[in-house]
Amino acid sequence: MDIIRTTSELQARADRVRAEGRRIALVPTMGALHPGHISLIAHGQERADEVWVSIFVNPTQFNEASDFEGYPRTFEADVEQCRAAGAKVIFAPTADQLYPEGAQTWVEVGSLAEPLCGASRPGHFRGVTTVVSKLFLAAKPHVAVFGEKDFQQLAVIRRMTRDLGFDIDIVGGPTLREEDGVAMSSRNLRLGPVAREQATVLIRAIQGAERAVAAGECNARALLENVRKTIGEPPQATLDYAELRDPESLAEAPPTLDGPTLLALAVHFSPDPDGQGADVRLIDNRVLVPQAADTSRPSSE
Ligand code: PAJ
Repeated sequence: MDIIRTTSELQARADRVRAEGRRIALVPTMGALHPGHISLIAHGQERADEVWVSIFVNPTQFNEASDFEGYPRTFEADVEQCRAAGAKVIFAPTADQLYPEGAQTWVEVGSLAEPLCGASRPGHFRGVTTVVSKLFLAAKPHVAVFGEKDFQQLAVIRRMTRDLGFDIDIVGGPTLREEDGVAMSSRNLRLGPVAREQATVLIRAIQGAERAVAAGECNARALLENVRKTIGEPPQATLDYAELRDPESLAEAPPTLDGPTLLALAVHFSPDPDGQGADVRLIDNRVLVPQAADTSRPSSE
């Protein structure tokens, strides 16, 4: 496994691999790797001859300097995990490789990037789509793998890939969870121990909604009221958003759910009473499938 630091070297490597007729899968990350990230490497290996992992904490997608500065950086451990998982290349550029001095070019997706995390974190997706475009141009992959945990990010990147005509297959990987159901995230490391226990509130709210839908509840307002009530319970949790949306367009769901519907959650956690941990925002999501939606649709045959 090689660690490559410059865009020009990565492009030359991509040209050589492509000339040999071999396929490249790229897994973009910001490091602090956990088994969720590593599972994306396995998805890449199923679809390509070589998996390349990029590790770059992208400054332009952070809204707050403290979040960027406090983002965990565990490069040595990341390298070992990538090696053990069979990645062939790690691309770990310095910021000037991706943002040359005076850079003023952005890639920005429209309405898909506006609601949910786009509303809570202005400019976030512009930073994501800009850096992912640069990573695509540097690594020239055939396939790129992203997690469904960041559901809106995956939707925005699929849209960008189509709109700009990148010849890259975008693959989504399911969310890996800790034993207690909390979605694995580099940010979990920043929760105090008490907040970490309270973080199960996201998956509990999701499972509550899933049970209600399975029992026939299709009323969007009733579902969201229950989700908000659950998230209101742990003392360190504050709801950022809880929304029901169309999984493709991310348009607001109708008052009565009439098909698969995305439940998207973002919750802030405050530091523990004894000062341990930081302010941390976690997200999670699930596509809810109302029972009627399975059977009520006329078959096209
Ligand atoms: P990062 O948060 O490091 O995540 C890298 C990839 O891992 C993303 O595609 C994310 O959805 C996926 N991922 C995170 N947690 C996961 C889990 N529990 N199970 C499965 N996949 C998971 O997302 C980013 O970085 C950045 O925005 C990036 C795309 C790299 C652009 O800077």
